[in-house]
Amino acid sequence: MSDPRPLGVFDSGVGGLTVLRELQRQLPNESTIYFADLGHFPYGPRYQAQVRHFAINIIRFLETLEVKLVVIACNTATAAALNTARELFDIPIIGVITPGAEAAVAATRNKRVGVISTEGTLQSQEYLHAIREANPTIGVLPKAAPELVDLVEAGKSGAPETEAVLRAALQDILHYQADTLILGCTHYPLLRPLIRKIAGDSMTVVDSAETTAARVKRVLARNGLESAEPGGAQHQIYVTGSPERFTDVAHILFGQDLPPITTVRLELVEAMSGREGAA
Ligand code: DGL
Repeated sequence: MSDPRPLGVFDSGVGGLTVLRELQRQLPNESTIYFADLGHFPYGPRYQAQVRHFAINIIRFLETLEVKLVVIACNTATAAALNTARELFDIPIIGVITPGAEAAVAATRNKRVGVISTEGTLQSQEYLHAIREANPTIGVLPKAAPELVDLVEAGKSGAPETEAVLRAALQDILHYQADTLILGCTHYPLLRPLIRKIAGDSMTVVDSAETTAARVKRVLARNGLESAEPGGAQHQIYVTGSPERFTDVAHILFGQDLPPITTVRLELVEAMSGREGAA
């Protein structure tokens, strides 16, 4: 049996492309639709109810495009909307927090895990809960580093100003001697070279892209939802708002393989979703 319907993936901007890239690597037969809500970027400083509203509308929009599964490729949106989304929709919905937390629990030797994220994800304490659910004896030090999102989005992943912000964000975590660091924001994998420079090789860095893609792969396989059409995968990107900066950073990640980008109006997403998002 083969299910050729696409996977729906969304984020507020370029961050979720790190998850998309990993999905395409691990699941080369799957078609994808990526939705970047640039018109509402950034999600990190917003109220959870508002992010939930955006997320529910996007999932409804993706549903109209007949996706077979949705990946919330944004930590802030996962924290704000995953549980509600699962109550509202029948299609499988996967977030990025639990896969990252479980990978960190498996990786840590000294039972000290640091987490860097947006303010919204920090406030939700979802990483703490997911880690302690998997192993209640693990210590967690979460830190918000919201400035990093804008710096990555502006294509400044290797800039000296980014290094200074990252050093400040990691200071307490290094002092705490965490041996494992969760990149609790899908924009942060683009900072890996700088993180290595600051934290050295001994710290295990966990980003949710790989573990989330692995989870999607398992869910598709267990439920007979895989596409069995080698070479048949098609990829599309939808954005709200202006795609210029998005396209620049996306090109760094995908090179020539960047899927075609269609701009949709925010009002259209609201209208196509049919109803008000749950708050
Ligand atoms: N990609 C989002 C996340 O993983 C952060 C970007 C934003 O604040 O919108 O939390």
